[in-house]
Amino acid sequence: MSFPIHRPRRLRNKQSIRNMVRETHLTPEDFIYPMFVTFGKGVRKKISSMPGCYQQSVDEVVKEAQRVYKLGIPAVLLFGIPKHKDERASEAYSSKGIVQKAVKALKDKVPELVIITDVCLCEYTNHGHCGVVKNGKILNDPSLELLAKEALSHARAGADIVAPSDMMDGRVAVIRDVLDGHGFDEVPIMSYAAKYASAFYSPFRDAAESTPQFGDRRSYQMDPSNRREAFKEVALDIEEGADIVMVKPAMCYLDIVSDIKDSFDVPVAAYNVSGEYSMVKAAAQRGWIDEKRVVMELLTSIKRAGADLIVTYFALDAVKEL
Ligand code: PBG
Repeated sequence: MSFPIHRPRRLRNKQSIRNMVRETHLTPEDFIYPMFVTFGKGVRKKISSMPGCYQQSVDEVVKEAQRVYKLGIPAVLLFGIPKHKDERASEAYSSKGIVQKAVKALKDKVPELVIITDVCLCEYTNHGHCGVVKNGKILNDPSLELLAKEALSHARAGADIVAPSDMMDGRVAVIRDVLDGHGFDEVPIMSYAAKYASAFYSPFRDAAESTPQFGDRRSYQMDPSNRREAFKEVALDIEEGADIVMVKPAMCYLDIVSDIKDSFDVPVAAYNVSGEYSMVKAAAQRGWIDEKRVVMELLTSIKRAGADLIVTYFALDAVKEL
């Protein structure tokens, strides 16, 4: 393989030929669009750290979901902002909870759209942690019962897929068990399997009002320095019944996405998280980068690394560029 016989530029000279040899293609089906649901009517409140994203009441969520579906994006991921937060995250598993209400309305108005619900306690607890807290510690096993109740109540409301993001050990198994025990054996679990304790989540915590009131999430989310541990987490989740596994965040963790794609035979999702979104938006607002090109390059790289599904706040912007 040597020059001048080989000239890689031959295949780069024309757009038409470049298109023919392109290895990675994004399609609207790659995307899952996250949405924040809040109580009220006609509410569409800007999230200051995430330009273009909103906390929305159910009626507005339905309207946006209709736009999402028309653009060919197959799924949304719902996060709830409850009225009251307490020690035991009561609104997370109440049949009158905000996510439960949104799921019902969406299944009624946009039945073909796949509704995925985030199963976690941090938006619903007064301390902002993803599990039950006692003496300043985040307890694993007592949290499982609440997460299982939450997943079941989402399934009862009509969720198509439940997505546990808490990182408690054993939660996929208890969720699978409770769903199966109540006739929801056909509801898939998309587990946030390799979820890192990342600084890139901070805009999301403004959006979901879920910042921990003490300490941080490092006793349950993974150390960003660890690569081999991701195999262990993913293997455990698959063994416990996860149908889709997620790596999160995406941009700084493409090695993990690639590893997991190569080593396991379930679909892999990658979460292009809030901080990744906000950085691009902030630089674009200053005119420092070409937003459209950066967004497409970013999403293409996530797919190129091996993601079958990409959870991204850019979904609506991106499909307009396809
Ligand atoms: C809930 C949850 C978080 C995100 C998704 N689900 C926040 C966290 O773990 O602190 C982050 C999403 C994002 O940053 O876009 N546990």
